[in-house]
Amino acid sequence: MSLDEENFDTLLHETRKFPPHPSFRQQATVSSADLYHQAAANGEAFWAEQARELTWSKPFTEILAWDPPHARWFYDGELNAATNTVDRHRQGATKNKVALIWEGEPGDQVVLTYDMLGREVDRAAQMLTALGVQPDDRITLYLPMIPELVIAMLAAAKVGAIHSIVFGGFSAEALRERINDAGSRLVITADAGWRRGKTVPLKANTDAALTGCPQVEQVVVVERVGQIAGLNMIPGRDRWWHQAMAEASTAPFAPVPRHAEDILFTLYTSGTTGKPKGIVHSTAGYLTGANTSCRLVFDLKPEDVYFCTADIGWITGHTYVVYGPLSCGATVVMYEGAPDWPDRDRYWALIERYGVTVLYTAPTSIRTFMKWGPELPGRHRLDSLRLLGTVGEPINPEAWMWYYEVIGGARCPIVDTWWQTETGAAMISPLPGVTDLKPGSASVPVPGIFADVVDTHGHSVPPGGAGYLVLTRPWPSMLRTIWGDDQRYQDTYWNRFPGRYFTGDGAHRDEDGYYWILGRVDDVMNISGHRIGTMEVESALVDDHRVAESAVIGRQHDLKGQAISAFVTLKDGIEGTPELVTALKQHVADKIGPMARPEEIFFTAELPKTRSGKIMRRLLRDVAEGRALGDTTTLADPTVVEALKQQYEAQDPD
Ligand code: PRX
Repeated sequence: MSLDEENFDTLLHETRKFPPHPSFRQQATVSSADLYHQAAANGEAFWAEQARELTWSKPFTEILAWDPPHARWFYDGELNAATNTVDRHRQGATKNKVALIWEGEPGDQVVLTYDMLGREVDRAAQMLTALGVQPDDRITLYLPMIPELVIAMLAAAKVGAIHSIVFGGFSAEALRERINDAGSRLVITADAGWRRGKTVPLKANTDAALTGCPQVEQVVVVERVGQIAGLNMIPGRDRWWHQAMAEASTAPFAPVPRHAEDILFTLYTSGTTGKPKGIVHSTAGYLTGANTSCRLVFDLKPEDVYFCTADIGWITGHTYVVYGPLSCGATVVMYEGAPDWPDRDRYWALIERYGVTVLYTAPTSIRTFMKWGPELPGRHRLDSLRLLGTVGEPINPEAWMWYYEVIGGARCPIVDTWWQTETGAAMISPLPGVTDLKPGSASVPVPGIFADVVDTHGHSVPPGGAGYLVLTRPWPSMLRTIWGDDQRYQDTYWNRFPGRYFTGDGAHRDEDGYYWILGRVDDVMNISGHRIGTMEVESALVDDHRVAESAVIGRQHDLKGQAISAFVTLKDGIEGTPELVTALKQHVADKIGPMARPEEIFFTAELPKTRSGKIMRRLLRDVAEGRALGDTTTLADPTVVEALKQQYEAQDPD
């Protein structure tokens, strides 16, 4: 296990506690600890009650069938996710309530009421049907953060198709791999997207990806930017979204009833091998998790204006930009672009302009805002805010305090939500009207979730200890499998500690039972809250003909949480020049996406290996973080890593 010793030490000495403000508690959806007790006494009854908050076309009578590691929740019920997020709010007083306030990076705006959003979704569902989309077909969406992305995913849900969203920052190659794994025959993309005033060539990337996707028959292209030079619309394959929408029927679209366990979407995430995993989420269980956590953790009310800064291309955007808040009938603020465009106060300007009440963002962003200084949020009225949230990585207490004081005016509780693509919804988080907050701790499992910290043998670690974080009972929004690879599902999550879900994270649990997440214990990095597998980057590096071997690690980084350090052995006769460093960094960005670009590349004649040939990344982390080397006795040649350390220190610019 890699525990960041310095941070761990800071966490252990963190003793501040913030009980809920009485004014917050008074209005909170949950203001007493009873819910914890009820859920602990009967978890299934608790979840059944939560699931009844959804709208069912056929109510369920069964709660859970658990055949480890396969769970089925509410499995004799039927429902549709678009009904639950949109149509059920299109009646009565909420019909004309604002569902979505969207702002583009250049400053353009779109405001859609629930009824307007519903009509767009219906039209898009008609369009998909006209294109021949059938229930259970996979549709890949490779789009910027624009309203059409929300419309397309809900339209897919309405016709019973499975969406597979690929983050717009992924490269053509990464897109190709994900399209092929899902077996999508339809791709929806845009001409381009805006990012820091520049355009991201989504259609060109799609064209490049599709050179290796023979099964893709149709591409629908949203015109977002316009006048993109050299845009190549292939007759018979490509069509414009606006034209296809104009041709589609304007009749209301009857939602296709879905069985509770039917797949709502797949979403790819990085694992410990080079091949990304298509995480499979169900319809009813996932929606139950999304909806419940929005009500209980975000205390979401119909009058809230809710802003989650995540891209919909990641799970946070799926659950907390779209399915959760819309299922609660909230008003969602969605922003297309970068936080520093045109200036570094863009988020604060958005909060002021729309009167945002709940803000959900990532520690890496908070640390960046800290660095930019308090004057920027100081330019704006932020007193509409009443609740703050963080996600994606551990938050250091210093950043927590800054968020609390400078953004929240020492008035807003912070919900530090620990969860994963696989868990679908927040698992460990305060309930803001009940739980005392401790800066840096995600606190305790939410009602209905059961966690533990265990040692390598699977024995529960007593309070005050650290170990592996596991979830001990199935929960409605858990992943159901890995697309096309149930064996990998079982091996990755369930075989390590039989009957329990292994998260891949380490955690410390204090005397009060609070969880302090210590980061990944597997070969997965967390770069600015994005999960990237070390193997993916290593494969991208060795793909260059000059590279013989590579080992990649995530090293501690003040802003990003972790940054990628690559150790590379070159083939005989190749010289490790600065130009080659630049070329290799670019190569990784081209193969995976800019977020996987290594921070530094370090050439070495040899890598530290065990006698069986396994690279010891733990020692490389020691080297990159300037620590004393850990145990080197299992190395085939301990002098390799000593030499590496000296060489690294001699070259390290810091
Ligand atoms: O290591 C944990 C970290 O992010 C991982 C999950 O990444 P991903 O599936 O991309 O989902 C990110 C958003 C849900 C976890 O295994 N992580 C997530 N939230 C927290 C966190 N680490 C500490 N504290 C958190 N609040």
